[in-house]
Amino acid sequence: MTAVSPRRGPAPRGRFLPVAAALAAMALCWLGAPAAVQAQTARQGRAIVARDCTGCHALTGDRMGAGGRAPSFPAIARMSSTTELSVTVFLRTSHAPMPNIMLSPEEISAVAKYIVSLKRGG
Ligand code: HEC
Repeated sequence: MTAVSPRRGPAPRGRFLPVAAALAAMALCWLGAPAAVQAQTARQGRAIVARDCTGCHALTGDRMGAGGRAPSFPAIARMSSTTELSVTVFLRTSHAPMPNIMLSPEEISAVAKYIVSLKRGG
C-alpha cells in the first residue's frame, strides 16, 4: 500500500479505500472471466434473486416501480444508470424501502451480473 500523505487535512479514506479496492478487484475478475463463467454467474444471480427478491421485484415484465412498488428486474436493467457497479454499490448500502438483505460479496457480484445480463436480453 503506497502511503498517500494528505496535504489538505485528513481525508475520510479509511472506509473508501477498502471498498474501492474490492470493486477494482471485482472489475478485474469480470474482465478476465471467460464468457461461459460469466453466464454461469448470472444464472447463480438469478437463483439468488428468485430466493430473496421476488417478494417485491418481478423477474419478468417491464413494470416500473410506482406507488412504493418495486420495479421489475428487466425494468431496472433497462435504466441507463444501471451498471454492474451501480447495482453492487446499491446492494452494499441500505436503501429504504428495501429491507437490509444481507448478501455475501459473491452473491452481490452474481446478482449484479444477472441484472446487467438482462440489458443484453439475457
Ligand atoms: C420489501 C420489498 C423489496 C425487496 C424484498 C427487495 N427490493 Fe429492491 N427495491 C424495492 C423498491 C420499492 C425499490 C424502489 C426504490 C426506489 O425507487 O426508491 C427497489 C429498488 C431496487 C433497486 C434499484 C433500482 C434503481 O432505481 O436503481 C435494485 C437494484 C434492487 N431493488 C435490487 C433488489 C435485489 C437484488 C433484491 C434481493 C436481494 C431486492 N431488491 C429486494 C423493494 C424491494
